[in-house]
Formats: sequence, C-alpha cells, structure tokens
Amino acid sequence: MIYLDNAASGGKKPPEVIFSVQNALKNYSSNPGRSGHNGSINTALMVYNARKTIVDFFGADNEQNVVFTLNCTHALNYVIKGVLQENDHIVISSLEHNAVMRPVTKLQNIKNISYDMASVSEDDDITVENFKKLINKNTKMVVCTHASNVTGKILPIEKIGKLCKEKGVLFAVDAAQSAGVIPINMQKMNIDFLCLAPHKSLLAPMGVGVLISRSKLNNTVLEGGTGTESLNFEQPLEMPEMLESGTINVPAIAGVTAGIEVLKKQGINNIYKKELGLIKYLYEQLNRLENVILYTKEPKFYDSVPLISFNIKDYNSFEVAEFLNKNNIAVRAGLHCAPTAHKTIGTLNVGTIRVSVGYFNNYYEINYLINVLKKYKKLKNCIDTIQ
Ligand code: ALA
Repeated sequence: MIYLDNAASGGKKPPEVIFSVQNALKNYSSNPGRSGHNGSINTALMVYNARKTIVDFFGADNEQNVVFTLNCTHALNYVIKGVLQENDHIVISSLEHNAVMRPVTKLQNIKNISYDMASVSEDDDITVENFKKLINKNTKMVVCTHASNVTGKILPIEKIGKLCKEKGVLFAVDAAQSAGVIPINMQKMNIDFLCLAPHKSLLAPMGVGVLISRSKLNNTVLEGGTGTESLNFEQPLEMPEMLESGTINVPAIAGVTAGIEVLKKQGINNIYKKELGLIKYLYEQLNRLENVILYTKEPKFYDSVPLISFNIKDYNSFEVAEFLNKNNIAVRAGLHCAPTAHKTIGTLNVGTIRVSVGYFNNYYEINYLINVLKKYKKLKNCIDTIQ
C-alpha cells in the first residue's frame, strides 16, 4: 500500500518508536503516580522525561503544564470548555476542523458563547487584519488551526499571537497538522494553549494527545482519580492532575518521546523540505493534467504543510479515492471533518481528494500515483464516450 493519508494519521512508525513502545510495554507497565513501588516510580520518571522532551521541543514553560489527553480533539475540548464562560466571545479562523467547531457550537447553545470567523487569505497580513477587526471587548480567546487539514495553508501564527498579546486575549492553537512538520515555539509565538495530535507528524502511536498550557483554565471538563489528594471529592487544581484523571497511555507516551527524538536527530526542516518537495512535484504534475481542479496554491516553504486537495472535474472524490484504493494507494476523500474549510474553498457539496505526504514517502510513490490517476481519467473518458 502506498500510504498518502498522513494528515489523517502518520501511518507506520519508525523503528525507534516501535522499540520504545515495546520497551514501555515490557518495562514501564506500572501505573505512574499511583503507588510508591519502584515500578510506579520508574514509569513516572519516564513520563516526566516525556513532558520535559515536549517542553523543550515546543518552547513551553514547564513540565507541569504538559497534559496527556486521549487525542487532539480531547485537548481542544479541554481548552474551549475550560476557558470560556457565559457570554464570552471568541474569534476562530475560516479553516477550522470540527474539533473546534463542535465544542464551540455546543457552548454557543448552552452558555451563549458567540464567535466570529476570520477569513484566511493567501496574504498573511490580510489574515491578521481580519482577526484584528473581529476582536472586541468581550473577546476572551482566539482559537485557530495552525495549518488547514484541507488546503494545507499555514496560518501566520506568530503574527496572530502578537496581536492576541497586544489585545490581551488568550490564544489557542490546533497544531494537529503542523506539530512535527514546522518549528513551533509557544513563548516566541505567544501561544497560551497548544493542542497536539502526536500520531501524525510527531511519528507517535494513536491513543495519546497533548495539551500544553501556559495559562490557567477556569473549569475542569472531566473529573476522577489522579493519585493525589484522594480525600478530596473535588478535582485537584494542580497541573497536570487537574486535567489528567484516570490512567494515562504510557506506551503511547513513550512513543511520543521517541518520535520527537527521531525528528530532532534528522532535523524537522530537513524532513519538511523533503516532504514539501514531493508535494510540490505532485502539484506541478497535477497542474498539467486537464480537468484537475486544485484547491491548494503552489506549495511554498512555511506557507503550506505537505498536502494537496484536488478534484477531477465532474467526478466524485469518493469514486476517485476508491479507484486509487483498488490500485493500492491510500488517500482521503470527502469533507475531512472540516466543512468550514470546504465552505471557504467552495467544495462543501463535493469534498476533495486529499493527498498528504509524510516521513516515509518518496518520488517513486508520487509518480505511481500520477500514473494511476492518468489511467483513471482515460478509463472514465472511455466509459463516458461509450455511454
Ligand atoms: N483530522 C484528520 C484528517 O484531516 C483525521 O484526516
């Protein structure tokens, strides 16, 4: 299988990550922070090391504010529901995923939260200006994706962070598609809450998400056992326990550390250059094919993550993806859980075929995809002529 669905999940894992997960299953199988025995303490130390690795990699403040969640959606729910109170206003971007749209809509219904949507332009200064125009005296927070999972566009996070600081509003970033692809520094970018999907470009397994917080949350969202303050029926407010009820996914967390170490060793810019080179090549080839509609601008360094959305004129995106699947190529079709982004690019009714490149892809695979797509077009043209 030629795996070109890395924006959904990063596919297979590097040997270092596999080793680290297996090692955790063997040697770190006690519950961290729950018991006083050596097994529990050793596991807690390994988890602490993971927090430290994450703090260093993302320019965060301290290990206590690294929270292990189930996934990125879970982390975003913690932020959105933990920060917003009755009648608050927020600004989001026009490219948000349902991981933002759905919790925001829920709060709109039950807490009278209101939101405005800043249009994302190809011109980053216009995007920042669009955010600026929408921030008002009731605005509590800006929540936005770092990179669209539909178009690949990278938003000017550093400039939006600067704007948030000037306006005194909190800044939450959904880095599902960017973490591990391009450098992120929370302090430099003035990010208060960073939400991660480690199973994508951080090369880690599924089943763990990360929330890094540099500001306080007003509410807990889940309550339960933390291994601390057991006599207290109220949720402890100390971080990370405040947001880490129940047992965490230790093997997957070991995989996060290993994934980040692989990225550090190879240099994320080197990996990004290679991946962007592949997607740029695909873009150029698709651009030459008649009847291919591209919804992604020419991929540029630090302007796009390595993915492309397109359609073949008059053909259903699911049908094309099914044809590719039959030819052993994995891509995603449809709305990619981000109807807002599709509304922005005008594909709400049809969706798109999305090709997303990752750590293991190469030119041979992109050429194979292009040849298969050419065959599909010929085949379809032939069927259409017969009909
Ligand atoms: N949000 C993920 C995607 O874009 C699952 O495919």
